[in-house]
Amino acid sequence: MKKVLFVTSEAHPLIKTGGLADVSGSLPRALAELGQEMRLLLPNYQALESKEPVRYLCRIDLDGVTVEILESRLPDSEVSVWLVDYPEYFGKPGNPYLDAQGKPWIDSAERFTLFCRTAVEIAMGRSELDWQADIVHCNDWQSGLVPALLSIEDNPPATVFTIHNMAYQGLFPRSKFVSLNLPPQLWNPDGLEFYDMLSFIKGGIAYADRITTVSPTYALEIQTPEFGCGLEGLLSHRREDLIGIINGIDQDYWNPETDEYIPQQYKSTTLKKKSLNKASLQRRFALPVDEEIPVIALISRLVQQKGIDLVIDSLPHLATMPLQFIVLGSGDKSYERRLENLARLYPGKIAISLGYNEKLSHLIEAGADIFFMPSRFEPCGLNQMYSQRYGTVPIVRRTGGLADTVVDSLPHSIEEQSATGIVFNEPAADSLLEATKRAILLFQDKRSWKTIQQTGMHRDFSWQNSAVQYLKIYQQLRPAASTAQSKTETPASA
Ligand code: ADP
Ligand code: GLC
Repeated sequence: MKKVLFVTSEAHPLIKTGGLADVSGSLPRALAELGQEMRLLLPNYQALESKEPVRYLCRIDLDGVTVEILESRLPDSEVSVWLVDYPEYFGKPGNPYLDAQGKPWIDSAERFTLFCRTAVEIAMGRSELDWQADIVHCNDWQSGLVPALLSIEDNPPATVFTIHNMAYQGLFPRSKFVSLNLPPQLWNPDGLEFYDMLSFIKGGIAYADRITTVSPTYALEIQTPEFGCGLEGLLSHRREDLIGIINGIDQDYWNPETDEYIPQQYKSTTLKKKSLNKASLQRRFALPVDEEIPVIALISRLVQQKGIDLVIDSLPHLATMPLQFIVLGSGDKSYERRLENLARLYPGKIAISLGYNEKLSHLIEAGADIFFMPSRFEPCGLNQMYSQRYGTVPIVRRTGGLADTVVDSLPHSIEEQSATGIVFNEPAADSLLEATKRAILLFQDKRSWKTIQQTGMHRDFSWQNSAVQYLKIYQQLRPAASTAQSKTETPASA
């Protein structure tokens, strides 16, 4: 049994902006079920929604600043959540990364440095919590300084750093490194420096004992210039310590048989009932209620990663076809405006809901026929798995976790019941259009369509297998691994 401090900037259902929250809300639970002693460390954001009681645990002094540690619990689990309470940073309206105006926090570097320093104190057993970590499992740049800071401690716990997205690196000017009072020995090209900038993510990639990312394909992709965002050299240098483990999903929360957010529950043998959800979805978006017309949906952060430009470029053509299109998302204001314009231009065909709406996302998964994920890159992606579970056939681009979790529908794969979606290669509107035409033809072939839906619904996307792979990594690591200095010898940019 290992004592694991799981350090993350979001966790469902407490606080969520994207898939990191889904993973942080369910992987620690799965590891606890495998007998590990899990503690989740999160900032105590004002926006955090804890339905569990919260109690005071202790104070920790850090370099002239005092934070409080509060304790809560991941609902329906044995996993304790330790909240880093520092109202000056976290007690303001906004989400973990953006203020109430939707702008990145101007003190993001300070916020997450404080968070990381707190994690180090707890991990080293220097708090009054009477607890010391064997493993510190960090996630994304917000916790990237933890492996770096632990590397200069005597006898530190072992560290795992999970990359959920290489595109977000936590880059700040060199002056921040100085004002944050970070240890000078960490400023070097094998350490936190990235082209004269302070890089939080490099703290994880350069210093962690093991690096994981959220799909096997993405683990290979990030070692190339196209996906490595400038860190491909360092990642490929560390390839012996880098492993891709596909995310699981919470199969209880995303379960069409028990989902409380949808008007009609259903399963693979009662797929006909799905049409009641479809009608409810069409009504919700003021679209004509018609069972025969395919409904295509997209739920996403509206950012370049997700191929939203391809969707926008395809929509005028798609609107000439017999289909309806629904978007739920928020993000880049120019995408939001263009999508709103298209919805105005094509009423009854294209409908959009801007914003974040958890409940509606379940209705969309249950009511749509087809789900779009034409991502330019996708470390793992979760909605393609949710979609398969709900008998909603995903159209995905062959990249990252999408390539690893969706099987293209070709005559032989449909026949042998392995097909679960439509997969296309090029990040281009034409390719997306071709894929959509293929989907619509298949949709009209009721027998094949049902086979594809049922194959997807029967797939096992539980955390079980993936959690076992994380556990194996934990077991390979000695509690006090020798992380006396950076694991790298070559510059990141090499
Ligand atoms: P990413 O983390 O890159 O955004 P993922 O596919 O891993 O992508 O996870 C996205 C998660 O966020 C999914 O659970 C998805 O349903 C949810 N999500 C994204 N946008 C919205 C939205 N506007 N409303 C509700 N849920 C959303
Ligand atoms: C990131 C990625 C997404 C992944 C999620 C959870 O946000 O963009 O592909 O599913 O993290 O690992």
